[in-house]
Amino acid sequence: MNIHPRVLEYEVPEFASRLKDKAPPTKLVLAMVPTPIQRFRMPEEIDGFEIFVKRDDMTGSTLSGNKIRKLEFILADALEKKADTIVTCGGIQSNFCRITALAAKELNMQTHVLLRSPTPSDKRSVGNQGNVFLHKLNGTTMHLVKKQAYLTGLLPKMEILSDQLSSQGLSPYLIAIGGSDTVGLWGYIECWKEMLEQNVPGFITDVVVTIGSGGTAAGLAIGNYLSGSKVKMHAISVCDNAQIFHEHVNEMIEFLGLSNETKSEDILNIIDGYKGRGYALNTKEELDFIKAASGTSGVPTDPVYTGKAVRGMFVELQNQSRTGQGHFSGNKILFVHTGGIFGLYDGQIEPILGDSTVRDLTNGAKKAFRVVAVAEIEVARPGMPDLFERGLCTSSRIAEYTNLFKGELIVVWFNASNNLPSWTYGLRDSRRKLLLPASSTVAYTAKP
Ligand SMILES: Cc1ncc(COP(=O)(O)O)c(C=O)c1O
Repeated sequence: MNIHPRVLEYEVPEFASRLKDKAPPTKLVLAMVPTPIQRFRMPEEIDGFEIFVKRDDMTGSTLSGNKIRKLEFILADALEKKADTIVTCGGIQSNFCRITALAAKELNMQTHVLLRSPTPSDKRSVGNQGNVFLHKLNGTTMHLVKKQAYLTGLLPKMEILSDQLSSQGLSPYLIAIGGSDTVGLWGYIECWKEMLEQNVPGFITDVVVTIGSGGTAAGLAIGNYLSGSKVKMHAISVCDNAQIFHEHVNEMIEFLGLSNETKSEDILNIIDGYKGRGYALNTKEELDFIKAASGTSGVPTDPVYTGKAVRGMFVELQNQSRTGQGHFSGNKILFVHTGGIFGLYDGQIEPILGDSTVRDLTNGAKKAFRVVAVAEIEVARPGMPDLFERGLCTSSRIAEYTNLFKGELIVVWFNASNNLPSWTYGLRDSRRKLLLPASSTVAYTAKP
């Protein structure tokens, strides 16, 4: 039996075999893959386009989202280097920090995260919501720092913290923001292999993904390029801008030794214009869109990454549908949903949720239900109670129910709206008074 998580020797996909020397030697099995591809209904139909979603938000439970694919490689590298402590960084609701800390704990490593906070001197300002809730459950050490750039601010601070941990006899392993390094890159090269196995180029013309630190889009674009598929790869930015991301992806291309044959600008179309008020800041319009899109598709998106990207994709598709011009090379679009569900629980969206779908069932129930039978199943009279004989319960289950409910009262009623039979049962107390839940009042009063 293979006990989870386990380390495997990494086999580079066929299409990337010429990059074997650049690939990490091992990989952990942490993600629940392959993730499904399904139809993705938008809040309004977009004429001429069919939209699908690859559910990378379903790569796990607390380990869900795109980052776990990167961490399969990064944490394998940490294990190989005999690390016992992980140091990384992100925004206060960073999905990457949450997944890293939880996955590291599964591997018996501790995690220190540097979290950018608007009020770093107030420990209580982190609250208990979303990803922070899971950090507190997990026992992750959270270091609050001011908002600052990664290379000039966060990275040097992580290095100082790593030195301090080393001087305490620990063996720290530092992970770049978002896991977007040349090791994590392989997570989405490998995901492209999964998408080839799902025949994505056979029925999809364009793939769209969110870009936040660049590793996911880089892996998909490089995989797509190496495999020679005709799919067009798009990334919608939720921070920084296309130029900064192209520079980052070009560094990856250079690391892989591909810079004399291609460049980011040729293999990845980065779409700016949808970061709104800025990274992790939202407008009411964006939050309304998240609610509408989730209410139409049943697929929740998050306020920091995927919500903005799906909105961007939706607006761009509407424009192209109207004008015939735009970014998309064809009309079969696949959005790669990179997760972030816990960020949705940071409380921001609560004011717009409202209560228009909440009903008071107590009165409705009294009017809607018509009681048609009440019967008692006795130990001494096993067999078929009257109501079962009248076809209100399938015969194969009669014996089972008789045993289960002997000595109890069964009440059968019809739902007035659809005329389908339902049943409930009540226990009796020591004085044989019927104990029914409050919602069963009608059934009780109609007892023969
Ligand atoms: C939910 C979610 N989607 C997308 C991204 C962006 O991915 P990347 O950092 O690889 O660009 C992130 C992280 O930054 C994320 O947490």
